[in-house]
Amino acid sequence: VRTKLLLSYIVLILVLTIPIGYSFNQIIEKNIMDQYQAHFESEIQLVKLIFEDTNSGETDYDQFVSKIKDTVDVRVTLIDMNGIVLADTEELPENMDNHLHREEVKNAIRMEKTATSVRYSNTLNTEYMYAATPVNRGEDTYILRISKPIEVLQGMSSKIEASVLTATLFGFVLAMTMAIFLTNRFTKPIYELTDAAEEIAKGKYGKKIYSNDRDQIGDLTRSFNQMSYNLGVKVNEITQRNVELEAILNSMINGIIAIDADRNILMINPISYEILNLPEGYIAENEPIYKVIRNEEIIELVEESIKSGKSQIEELSYVHLDKMLRIYVNPILTNSKEIIGSIVVIQDITVIRKLEQMRSDFVSNVSHELKTPLTSIKGFVDTLKNGAINDPETAIRFLDIIDMESERLYRLINDILILSEIERMDEEIDQDLVVMNEIIDEVIDMLSLKASEKGLDLIKEMDNLLAINGNRDRIKQLIINLVDNGIKYTEKGFVKILLSEENNYVKIQVIDTGIGIPDSHLERLFERFYRVDKGRSRNQGGTGLGLSIVKHIALLYKGKIDVHSKIGKGTEFDIYFPKSNKMN
Ligand SMILES: Nc1ncnc2c1ncn2[C@@H]1O[C@H](COP(=O)(O)OP(=O)(O)O)[C@@H](O)[C@H]1O
Ligand SMILES: [Mg+2]
Repeated sequence: VRTKLLLSYIVLILVLTIPIGYSFNQIIEKNIMDQYQAHFESEIQLVKLIFEDTNSGETDYDQFVSKIKDTVDVRVTLIDMNGIVLADTEELPENMDNHLHREEVKNAIRMEKTATSVRYSNTLNTEYMYAATPVNRGEDTYILRISKPIEVLQGMSSKIEASVLTATLFGFVLAMTMAIFLTNRFTKPIYELTDAAEEIAKGKYGKKIYSNDRDQIGDLTRSFNQMSYNLGVKVNEITQRNVELEAILNSMINGIIAIDADRNILMINPISYEILNLPEGYIAENEPIYKVIRNEEIIELVEESIKSGKSQIEELSYVHLDKMLRIYVNPILTNSKEIIGSIVVIQDITVIRKLEQMRSDFVSNVSHELKTPLTSIKGFVDTLKNGAINDPETAIRFLDIIDMESERLYRLINDILILSEIERMDEEIDQDLVVMNEIIDEVIDMLSLKASEKGLDLIKEMDNLLAINGNRDRIKQLIINLVDNGIKYTEKGFVKILLSEENNYVKIQVIDTGIGIPDSHLERLFERFYRVDKGRSRNQGGTGLGLSIVKHIALLYKGKIDVHSKIGKGTEFDIYFPKSNKMN
């Protein structure tokens, strides 16, 4: 801008100064010439007077010539009406040509008044000014002519030319300085505005430019400042809103995908990537929805909502992802009810459904487990009532079975109650310091009879006192369940309890030399009512809930469980609890 402006200024200045300088020069030269001419004309009048004054006879031209030579500083020539030179102040008349056709002479004769001309004299190699006028002496008329070189004049005019040029140059320099000054003055705010606009384009808002100008540029600067400020405020607002919106979308547990009428994804929140199992680093924005969701049912719902403008809700299983999803599709409508896209909300209900499934499985399992002893009890009571009571031996045997079955019922209900109690709490609130050595001693006291009845050794190995945080009764229950299993599923050998410390964890190992567990069952071992051998468990009075309770208690106190087993060799359960440091 600056160079352009400056260039136009230069052109403008040149266009103005050159013709002005030139015509000024012309005018001055013409003026001088005119003045000179006027002066020349008055000079000839003077000469004329002198001539008329020298009012003598015909032949005293020489007297006139010599008189005139003393008086005026010009060459004077006297010519008769035929052009013959009669006298001359500088040359002899007989050496001179006929002057009839000299311009000034010719004109003076024709117009009968003073005539002038400027001519180049070849003989003298210089420009001359001539003036001729008719004069009368008695009856006769003569032509009186004066001439003078005008080199003086030329000298003068070149001086004038020089000063005009100087003045023009001076004017030019002055104008240029002004032009540069003005250009800078005008362009500075423009440059500042450009810089500021570039800053805004880079995202830096609110930049101020200072200007006190009262012109349009000043106005522009002020509106620019206002605009920049407003823009900053607006962008901040929008950014803030975006941040809020993003935070909301990011913290939603449901996947949200907005698509336009062309089925391209406008927006998708992070949880959608998770639910749809999209590869890491994949960007779903601007992709068509059918490329991102490869499930025909969902795509159909989207199409239906865009076509009908009505919300769609459906629960479906995304077999490919092994997930249960609840899909809500809502068309996006403008104020004029035009459909411009739709919002797809994806709720992952896999876990909910699984929990529901587990719960109903549990209920049917419980009913079944309760029904078995009850049926048995009812059967034997009926048999007794129908006469068996009269045979004391049989009656006693039946009553023992009834006793055993009600015992199982009791254990079952007890286990169910324990389990549901643990399940109901997320975290144990009343956590005591539980010294594991004490617990293990108590459990051994409790179960040593049962072990010795089967001819098994019940061994403990523990060195230091080790404690964990938890509920004493529940931790004891856990150990009982494991040791009880060890005794139940071992025919020969021992059941050993080891207590040690490992990486700030308390490690409890329950090792037996029993029947072992096949690898294929290890995974499901901790599920409720899961038993490797149902009949065997029943015979041992098992409920199938023992290990499930173990798992839940361990989780409650941030514990971990490991199982190692070899069929026919034995089983080892390892429980790790975070060590409580209050002991030391
Ligand atoms: N120490 C062990 N040795 C062999 N099998 C075991 C052992 N502990 C548990 N099991 C297997 O795991 C199943 C589940 O155990 P548990 O939940 O305590 O139920 P229960 O003992 O009442 O049958 C048992 O039925 C048994 O098949
Ligand atoms: Mg058990």
